[in-house]
Amino acid sequence: MGFLAAALVSLAALAGASPVQHGSLKRQVSQLRDKYDFVVVGGGTSGLTVADRLSAAFPAKTVLVIEYGDVHFAPGVFDPPTDWITPAPDSAPAWSLTSLPNPDMGNKTAFVQAGQVVGGSSAVNGQFFDRPDRFDCDAWTEAGGPEFAQGDITWSWSGMFPYFKKSVTFTEPTADIVRQYNYTWDMSAYGGSTPIHSTYGPFQWADQTVLGKAWMEMSIKPVKECAGGDKEGICWVPTSQHPVTGERSHAGLGHYADVQPRANYDLLVQHQVVRVVYPKGTNTSPPLVETRSLADDHLFNVTVQGEVIISAGALHTPTVLQRSGIGPASFLASAGIPVVLDLPGVGSNLQDHAGPPVTWNYTQPYEFFPLPSEMTSNATFKSDAIAAFNATPAGGPYTLAGGNSAIYVSLPHMTPNYTTIVSKIRQMATSNSAASYLPPDLQSESSIIAGYHAQLLALANLLSNRAAPSLETPWATSEFPAGTAAWSFLLHPLSRGTVRLNLTDPLAPPVLDYRAGSNPVDFDMHLAQVRYLRRLLETPTMQQHGATETGPGADVAGDDEALVEYVKQQIVLSFMHPCCTAAMLPRNRGGVVGVDLKVHGAKGLRVVDISVLPLVPGAHLSATAYAVGEKAADIIIREWKGR
Ligand SMILES: Cc1cc2nc3c(=O)[nH]c(=O)nc-3n(C[C@H](O)[C@H](O)[C@H](O)COP(=O)(O)OP(=O)(O)OC[C@H]3O[C@@H](n4cnc5c(N)ncnc54)[C@H](O)[C@@H]3O)c2cc1C
Ligand SMILES: *[C@@H]1O[C@H](CO)[C@@H](O)[C@H](O)[C@H]1NC(C)=O
Ligand SMILES: *[C@@H]1O[C@H](CO)[C@@H](O)[C@H](O)[C@H]1NC(C)=O
Ligand SMILES: *[C@@H]1O[C@H](CO)[C@@H](O)[C@H](O)[C@H]1NC(C)=O
Ligand SMILES: *[C@@H]1O[C@H](CO)[C@@H](O)[C@H](O)[C@H]1NC(C)=O
Ligand SMILES: *[C@@H]1O[C@H](CO)[C@@H](O)[C@H](O)[C@H]1NC(C)=O
Ligand SMILES: *[C@@H]1O[C@H](CO)[C@@H](O)[C@H](O)[C@H]1NC(C)=O
Ligand SMILES: *[C@@H]1O[C@H](CO)[C@@H](O)[C@H](O)[C@H]1NC(C)=O
Repeated sequence: MGFLAAALVSLAALAGASPVQHGSLKRQVSQLRDKYDFVVVGGGTSGLTVADRLSAAFPAKTVLVIEYGDVHFAPGVFDPPTDWITPAPDSAPAWSLTSLPNPDMGNKTAFVQAGQVVGGSSAVNGQFFDRPDRFDCDAWTEAGGPEFAQGDITWSWSGMFPYFKKSVTFTEPTADIVRQYNYTWDMSAYGGSTPIHSTYGPFQWADQTVLGKAWMEMSIKPVKECAGGDKEGICWVPTSQHPVTGERSHAGLGHYADVQPRANYDLLVQHQVVRVVYPKGTNTSPPLVETRSLADDHLFNVTVQGEVIISAGALHTPTVLQRSGIGPASFLASAGIPVVLDLPGVGSNLQDHAGPPVTWNYTQPYEFFPLPSEMTSNATFKSDAIAAFNATPAGGPYTLAGGNSAIYVSLPHMTPNYTTIVSKIRQMATSNSAASYLPPDLQSESSIIAGYHAQLLALANLLSNRAAPSLETPWATSEFPAGTAAWSFLLHPLSRGTVRLNLTDPLAPPVLDYRAGSNPVDFDMHLAQVRYLRRLLETPTMQQHGATETGPGADVAGDDEALVEYVKQQIVLSFMHPCCTAAMLPRNRGGVVGVDLKVHGAKGLRVVDISVLPLVPGAHLSATAYAVGEKAADIIIREWKGR
């Protein structure tokens, strides 16, 4: 896993926690009520946001969250005693999945994780807390078509921004920290008071400014505030952490443990939702929620009066739906599951961020102190770092997590070739050749094809927009354990994968087919990005340090074929941002939910998590998962208050 584990998205070591016991915590069916008004499936980032808001808005209605994992409130991987570069190897409360081989990527597999704990992936992620830009959200609406753009609920930037603001409390760094690192921000992007916290931390590695200077020499412009809808350029990115303790801020805290116990808010842990069941058809009343105890395998139904909200995340929401008979009819038939609703979009449309690194060696003395290697080579440094983190306020390297800066660059700023790329995309959407890039069993589904065409046209607009980033390269320091690297995140992939039940064991984690590179234009974009990042090494700053390219390397020339080979060999296929597997699109565009997040054709059933995005935005996904939860809660509250 290399750099990934090391620097960006490492997994939390939550073992050894002494769980804070909340009155509402339930461990077995005998502790539950006879029935609930709202049942939320999955106590993760979006799910706990919704549960918190609904239980506060309706004191007389009962809310139950059913969560597979357990309560762990201990600090995560970027907190001591976990090494900055060595995640705890054991008892991690997460699923670790390996995808099927990707034939267009030399049969490489993707390694993907998902939180399995109260708080979900927000409790195990890399704490990099950026937001999409305005064009990302506008593209969701565009892909949905007129019906989606004109209703009273819109998911465009103007419809999302208020919820991004509401979902987090941003604390300004102190003046001396600002002086030290030149952090910039604009409070007009914030204003919430929710106990989900973010800030700019009090620490940088000593060479943080080296890459910063080099990016400016590439004419990338610093952006004062990247969370306000415009982020093409050099960005500071807040960390999801408490501003005083430095500890991870996550949904299990901010939307559960830190919430005053409410008589109407229950959380059942260590239980797996198997499926939802409609005893009298999908258009009468909300479904029952069939649930399995992990402790003793006991199976029972939870009765729901109001709604069931599925928030099991991009990898598991499709499994709950498919086990319920809601999904692609042909696949369900092969799985021997009676079809309740034929929705071919369930588990389709899988997207993630992926990309290779450009790497180099410094051939001139590179003397900065401290660099991350101190954490493993210097016991004094490490124990000082632990002491600094435990001080009040917290300080030192543990407060930085993997880093809090990145560049975001649009395709037109990377290459004049962008017009060729964009016209290829438009061409495939209008000539009907696009369907051949879809999963084989979806190539004849007219709704999925229509949705894919709409997505491609929205992406063509996005990719030709100078203000809309398509490359991200995060950084904290030039020194990474596996050599110095600039990672090339492909923010807007065209290839589409699937999440499907494991036919031999439907309760096991799903089978992931990423299908990376199945749309060949993704390679055009990977190449444009690698060529662009190679230019970093020609900047005066990098030349001064004697930076010498090691990957692709001097022996890999600039020709397309050699670079494609390099991409296939070096690509990391998941930066842990799987999404879009229950897309919010009209049913005739392969959608699973509408703008109100109700599952098409199913009464009393919504999906509220990162699966509902039609297109992966150019951002890490946790801030968006919170905002989706906030917006969904508002939609649901308005609807029930109006009854
Ligand atoms: C290792 C890692 C690193 C990441 N790094 C970053 C980062 O640095 N910055 C960033 O912004 N984003 C990052 N992400 C992505 C981001 O955290 C997620 O996209 C986001 O939190 C997803 O929210 P969600 O609500 O959709 O799902 P989750 O938060 O994953 O919640 C789903 C919940 O459902 C539960 N569940 C699943 N199936 C069932 C079932 N059948 N019954 C009951 N419960 C069930 C799970 O246990 C989980 O608690 C990272 C993710 C991972 C895994
Ligand atoms: C990928 O695997 C398939 C099936 O095993 C095989 O036919 C193909 O040659 C492999 N491709 C590469 C590049 O190894
Ligand atoms: C911060 O900005 C000042 C003024 O522009 C500059 O002199 C200084 O080098 C910068 N410091 C860092 C760490 O970038
Ligand atoms: C849940 O209810 C459905 C529909 O009535 C029924 O078929 C199923 O067996 C029930 N499950 C359990 C565990 O009782
Ligand atoms: C780059 O540096 C690493 C670590 O010092 C070394 O192992 C490797 O051989 C170097 N690569 C090249 C191409 O110089
Ligand atoms: C180890 O870290 C300590 C504390 O920061 C520092 O004073 C010392 O110089 C470091 N030792 C080496 C060999 O770099
Ligand atoms: C444009 O594309 C061609 C063909 O793929 C390639 O040779 C050339 O280097 C590209 N130019 C840039 C600036 O990326
Ligand atoms: C499906 O589950 C079985 C049993 O748990 C496992 O052995 C198998 O590897 C899984 N299949 C896939 C494709 O993941």
